[in-house]
Amino acid sequence: MARLDVTETFHGITFPGHLHTQDSLQSALRFPFQDTDILIVSYPKSGTTWMQEIVTLICNRGDPHVCQTVPNWTRAPWLEQHYCAMVLEKYPLNPRVITTHLPQHLLEPALQGSKAKVIYVSRNPKDVVVSYYHFCKMAKFFPDPGSFQDFLNQFLDGRSYYGSWFDHVKGWTRQTETMSNLLHITYEEMSLDPHCAVEKISAFLQRPLVEEELNSCLKHSSFSSMKNNTMVNCTLISPEIMDHSKGCFMRKGELGNWKSLFTDEQNQHFESVFSSRMQDCSLKFVWDVPHENRICNKEGNPN
Ligand code: A3P
Repeated sequence: MARLDVTETFHGITFPGHLHTQDSLQSALRFPFQDTDILIVSYPKSGTTWMQEIVTLICNRGDPHVCQTVPNWTRAPWLEQHYCAMVLEKYPLNPRVITTHLPQHLLEPALQGSKAKVIYVSRNPKDVVVSYYHFCKMAKFFPDPGSFQDFLNQFLDGRSYYGSWFDHVKGWTRQTETMSNLLHITYEEMSLDPHCAVEKISAFLQRPLVEEELNSCLKHSSFSSMKNNTMVNCTLISPEIMDHSKGCFMRKGELGNWKSLFTDEQNQHFESVFSSRMQDCSLKFVWDVPHENRICNKEGNPN
């Protein structure tokens, strides 16, 4: 299934046809969640793979064996991608860890009444769009992103693959008010205080860890470990599908990397779209506090 140039449009949102079909998208909406499932939800480039690694490590009490031997798309498959049903059948997971980039309103009926534990990861959208731009340059199943200006306009207008970042974040985080089985955590929290973030996730999953297990989770989910782990760094994906000469999936892992690409003008425009699109959202994001102005290194410490 190459379909590198195919785009699927589903409920007004575009998806890469290399990974999705109308059938796979439709099946996701009818997915029979089990109460023991763990669902990782994110807009692309928000730290999805990082959360897959942390959850896998927590479920294995810090033992890295599964992380180091099973690709993330097998141990935490994306619900809406065409191979998901096959993976879940062929490799029974306990617990099932499932990933999705779908917006909340599309998954709401399937999740209704379910006690599945949902972890929503969000990230500073300026860092998301920069990460997304670099990813599109290497992923041959995404259209050529063109100039950063064009790509940014598409992102702000909600025309990127997987839809609008604003709608995605607002849709899922609104649920934190009513769903006790939903944890919202940010990439920034994970970066600035990974110890606290892993503790928070393990408590939410009701899988407490002793200090040694927690330290092992931290070690094996660090940027440097994951960058060298072929099960998550995308190097298993063939060059016909991902052009590794154009970049690295585990690219920077920083807070504030948007500053490397945004002009002052783009930043001002972004801020004005952000304030108008988020005015109906009461959530305080971590990048609203002074940390926002700090560029952090991979260990989460200010440079
Ligand atoms: P950058 O491109 O800014 O480096 P996703 O998994 O949702 O596609 O997100 C990918 C982004 O998460 C990339 O961001 C990647 O480097 C970053 N990332 C992955 N693992 C990480 C880790 N352990 N620590 C920090 N950032 C990580």
